[in-house]
Amino acid sequence: MTSADPLLRVNDLAVEFQTDEGTVHAVNGISYEISAGESLGIVGESGCGKSVSSLAIMGLVPRPAGRVTQGEITFGERDLLKLSTHEMRLVRGQQIAMIFQDPVSSLNPVYPVGRQIEEALRLHLKMSRPDARARAAELLDTVGIPAPEERVKDYPHQLSGGMQQRAMIAMAISCQPDLLIADEPTTALDVTIQAQVIELLAGLRRELGMAVILITHELALVAGFCDRVAVMYAGYIVEYAPVRELFARPQHPYTVGLMKAVPTLIGERTEQLANIPGSPPDLLDLPHGCPYAPRCPFVRDECRVEVPDLRDRGDGHPVRCIVDPTTGDLR
Ligand SMILES: Nc1ncnc2c1ncn2[C@@H]1O[C@H](COP(=O)(O)OP(=O)(O)O)[C@@H](O)[C@H]1O
Ligand SMILES: [Mg+2]
Repeated sequence: MTSADPLLRVNDLAVEFQTDEGTVHAVNGISYEISAGESLGIVGESGCGKSVSSLAIMGLVPRPAGRVTQGEITFGERDLLKLSTHEMRLVRGQQIAMIFQDPVSSLNPVYPVGRQIEEALRLHLKMSRPDARARAAELLDTVGIPAPEERVKDYPHQLSGGMQQRAMIAMAISCQPDLLIADEPTTALDVTIQAQVIELLAGLRRELGMAVILITHELALVAGFCDRVAVMYAGYIVEYAPVRELFARPQHPYTVGLMKAVPTLIGERTEQLANIPGSPPDLLDLPHGCPYAPRCPFVRDECRVEVPDLRDRGDGHPVRCIVDPTTGDLR
């Protein structure tokens, strides 16, 4: 699992929220790494800690309720968790960028989109206004927005959802980040537009050599895009493998369940049919043992004793499960 010089290494990261009802264990000791130019998929049902773990990388876990309680996030030489607010702001502007599910809440409605990209360029790259203006139009062109010279003057509400998401991507890549975190970038979009946005991200990744973390609840989306995949459940990584290996030999019963779940068209959107019976556990009150045990068709008494380790059996495909889903026997 360890390559020579990963760009980003997340080690044993945990994030908790203090709420009126108690402590929410949102992220429970996850580790992964990503090399320059590589793409990692993070997949799992809603509420499993995908966004919170990424917010931790960005230094944006909402305080004071949320807190990183353990772990390291090494980017290049530095542990991001040890940087000052100011240093972290520079990292966010220049080295790591994030795009969110909902472009509407990420773009400022009172400024034209071109202006927003311009401001980012002026702030982070110290460009002059005329240079930033020209570059903003170039960037809109790069992300496939037609007539960019005109569109720079548009306000976000004048653009379609797909075009808004493209504008967000233009803003994210404006400072040529080494790492782009795309958090469910297509979930709010129509199916045909989803495919175009994924295509766009794939092209940009190749052209700019950026590493990309693609977060999604749709396993199918990572198939054509990612080099490696981490499957998350209840704040844990339960399986971590190269993408082909994962699809050829899913080793965790949860991943097997996700693969059987068929995406269905609901109106203009796809949604994963919830045909894994039951629902994810309450992160306020995790069950003893494996968090997937209550839903797992392969469950055995041993599963309810302790959370299994994420174990690599020497094949570069670690799994947090003591049962082999192909035979139902203990591993
Ligand atoms: N501000 C918050 N306060 C309390 N709990 C939170 C907060 N933000 C997220 N959580 C909890 O953390 C867990 C993980 O959330 P999240 O990372 O957003 O899930 P995902 O992105 O996988 O859908 C969820 O149970 C969610 O309810
Ligand atoms: Mg999320």
